[in-house]
Amino acid sequence: MSTKSRILELLEKSRDESLSGEKIANSLGISRNAVWKAINELKKDGYKIHAITNKGYRLDSDNDILSCEGILPFLPAACHLAKLEVHDSIDSTNKRAKEMAISGAEHGSVVIANHQTAGRGRYTRAFFSPPDGGLYISFVLHPDNLPFENITSITAFAGLIVCDAIESLSSKKPKIKWVNDLYLDRKKICGILTESISVLESRQPQWIVLGIGINVCTPSASFPEEIRKTAGSLFPDGNSEFTRNQLAAEIIRRILFSEAKLNESMLFEAYRKKLMMLGSEITVIQGNDSYEATAIDIDSQGHLLVKKANDVVETLSFGEISIRV
Ligand code: BTN
Repeated sequence: MSTKSRILELLEKSRDESLSGEKIANSLGISRNAVWKAINELKKDGYKIHAITNKGYRLDSDNDILSCEGILPFLPAACHLAKLEVHDSIDSTNKRAKEMAISGAEHGSVVIANHQTAGRGRYTRAFFSPPDGGLYISFVLHPDNLPFENITSITAFAGLIVCDAIESLSSKKPKIKWVNDLYLDRKKICGILTESISVLESRQPQWIVLGIGINVCTPSASFPEEIRKTAGSLFPDGNSEFTRNQLAAEIIRRILFSEAKLNESMLFEAYRKKLMMLGSEITVIQGNDSYEATAIDIDSQGHLLVKKANDVVETLSFGEISIRV
């Protein structure tokens, strides 16, 4: 670990407090000049660090630069995090997580980026992933280590976890649009892409890559024209109630820290409470066809039950349809 990293770790652990140059130097066994140099490098990286006479250096709580040093202090030691990579810019965290899975990464390996140049959404769509306002995070997961019996529950589980993580850190209460898009004030603020890697001989996925993209404080005007009406962010005015490091840690903890198997019917009960569309008129889009229906419920496996105009009830599986609320 470099001197810069070790100093960042100390500052992150005591945000809003001043640490004297002498104290930092002693605890790391380095000279005060080395501390000063590393602080200057951190400032060049964009950290707002105040040097206060007779008190020392202070990292303000509004610094929001993603880093391992900023995430790890928020995680319990027994969190089953196998590996954490944080990139300033990458093509796609899901792509990177898949490469890691193929080359033998363990369950609980996590890739995070501040910016994706080729962020991917469902149905081969692009996912707009500009720098500095979003959190793009992908997990390598092994089905045997997931806290439920049926791996398809991962889809609902992930949506629920992200809602809970956001609610636990802020006053925002996003809702889920089936299957797992998160909405706030009728705008999509988070998309989730779950991919699996299987060997041909086995029908069971060997690895699951769970990718989550959250617009934390992306300003509304910065969304491309074609998605500006539908895409939103948690704090479009930039006044976030948490840092992206905190949010990343909260999501990692909730995804990786489930020791016991979950009761799946309770999972879907909690999920149902967060669904935004039950009782609403929706448009079901299946390939080139579409029809109007009323969303009436989800079943114990997370399928959406919809009633068509002729009163026939259809059971919809994810992966097959899109809906418009
Ligand atoms: C969707 O809304 O269609 C799903 C979007 C998923 C985006 C996330 S961002 C992190 C991870 N990396 C990707 O390239 N995609 C997922």
